[in-house]
Amino acid sequence: MKQIILFFCIFTMLSGACSGCSDTEREGKEETPEDIRSLMDAPYPMGCAVNVGLLRSNEKCRQVILKEMKSLTAENAMKMEALSLGRGEYNWTDADYLVNFAAQNKIRVHGHTLLWHRALPAWVSSFEGNREEWIALMRNYIKDVVGHFKGKLSGWDVVNEAFEDNGTYRNTVWYEHIGKEYIDLAFQFAHEADPDALLFYNDYGMEYSKAKRDAICLMIKDMKQRNIPVDGIGLQMHIDMYRPKSDFIQAIQAAASTGVKVHISELDVAVNPEKKPEMKFTANVAERQKQSYKGMSEALQSIPVAQNYGLTVWGVSDADSWLTAHPDWPLLFDRNYAKKSAYYGLLESF
Ligand code: XIL
Repeated sequence: MKQIILFFCIFTMLSGACSGCSDTEREGKEETPEDIRSLMDAPYPMGCAVNVGLLRSNEKCRQVILKEMKSLTAENAMKMEALSLGRGEYNWTDADYLVNFAAQNKIRVHGHTLLWHRALPAWVSSFEGNREEWIALMRNYIKDVVGHFKGKLSGWDVVNEAFEDNGTYRNTVWYEHIGKEYIDLAFQFAHEADPDALLFYNDYGMEYSKAKRDAICLMIKDMKQRNIPVDGIGLQMHIDMYRPKSDFIQAIQAAASTGVKVHISELDVAVNPEKKPEMKFTANVAERQKQSYKGMSEALQSIPVAQNYGLTVWGVSDADSWLTAHPDWPLLFDRNYAKKSAYYGLLESF
């Protein structure tokens, strides 16, 4: 039905009258049949991370999001460092901007992230207190933040990167002052603050480290058994084009085997992991990257639909990617927000 309406809309536009067409921002450009398809055709919610500064100021970026995305994650605006000014003091400006933009355009928002070892405000890193006081700090923060967005987000990354690659707990401030129970507590506090939000454990490396994969899956199964409210695993998937498809299949299958939902939460495919200054983005490189994106999407579609929370790419265009220390082209759109081969790789996978 949607396709019939779209087809009618394009037909009327080509014949010079687009009065029935709701997309007023096409700037009179003719659409080709190719353009009728978009990432919204994905059989799961397709999303991206976005920097709020860019969302406010860059019209091309906004248009890509409006045309292609069903889900948004704040690249930085919902991290503790961005939200927390001091104990009980918050700056909601950027995060609220993103949430309002999404609500106006019926886009899902995924919250990222409540507890992490990075992006800590100075008042937290330097906080001195006993275990109870650390638990109280964490409880208040989670209660305030999850409470502020209650009913507006579909889910939260409650704990991010709690494990080392060898499968041991990462020695974060939370682990150091509270012990491994900080993870259970964080999920319980988040659930109390918004019982409808889906709660995720998010991490990288499950595609290359068996020890980490096993540790995370074991933890999730154990939490489920003890009725700790965990609903999903986020696999960051900051991969490069040399990563074999079998590795990400393995990670996705392992995560799904715990019975919770699976989110590919931060996908990007680096093409210059060796960090060569002279690297060029050739047609061969573009093709190889395309296969990585396609393979990832296919792998995600191999799990039961009810467990598939979606696929989020970590940024919109190559110009906005966090991987900027050396030349790279890790995303679906080029620096001018034009579709790359990688984009068509995703379309082919649907
Ligand atoms: C990154 C952002 O993209 C950067 O802009 C910021 O400077 C550092 O954090 N894993 C995560 C994300 O969970 O939050 C990180 O995002 C990338 C790695």
